[in-house]
Amino acid sequence: MYNPKDTYFKKAKKEGFLARSVYKLEEIDKRYRIFKRGQRVLDLGAAPGSWLQYIAKAVGKKGKVLGIDIRPIKWDNHPAFVSFWQRDIWKWDCHEAQKIAPCFDVVVSDMAPSTTGIKDADAFRSFKLAKRALDVALTLLPHGGHFICKLLEGGEMKDFLLECKRGFSFVKVFKPRGSRTESREIFVIALKKK
Ligand SMILES: C[S@@+](CC[C@H](N)C(=O)[O-])C[C@H]1O[C@@H](n2cnc3c(N)ncnc32)[C@H](O)[C@@H]1O
Repeated sequence: MYNPKDTYFKKAKKEGFLARSVYKLEEIDKRYRIFKRGQRVLDLGAAPGSWLQYIAKAVGKKGKVLGIDIRPIKWDNHPAFVSFWQRDIWKWDCHEAQKIAPCFDVVVSDMAPSTTGIKDADAFRSFKLAKRALDVALTLLPHGGHFICKLLEGGEMKDFLLECKRGFSFVKVFKPRGSRTESREIFVIALKKK
């Protein structure tokens, strides 16, 4: 049964993270070793900000982190090497990110559409957001860069994976333990941009 205040929620609160989703990124990072000190990372769908908190700690102050979301983040006193811009991904010219860094080592997307409860419609909207995130990643990542993207399982997943395989040398689907069992969300791990 859906429990909004599950173990991960309580753990996040205790450890000072802004959302339980941080543990999904932590698990992905432990498994695939994504983040390193000094990296430049773009976080799409960054609000309320738990992934930004995790990434900032992982890359350290020699890194650069940019978060984008249509809603504001709740991390008021973030360090200067972390930037946040309130933008709608559909109206955003991603070249603006080059004001922060000419290119990014990692692009992550945890973007999620507001859901309707209609399975296929929600999966399609999630696919559209993921596709937009992939376009941004292909624009801003250099050769060898990594892309991590959330997606709701649905009919379009196969196409999305094919597109990722065209752009990246290693592509895997990963379901973190922190994902609610009833959720159809999965994460696409696309490493080493071709
Ligand atoms: C699951 S939340 C992200 C949680 C975040 N990773 C964290 O750890 O705090 C999904 C986010 O996607 C954002 N989003 C959805 N559609 C968007 C759009 N068109 N442009 C930018 N952000 C969008 C939502 O506003 C929401 O904050």
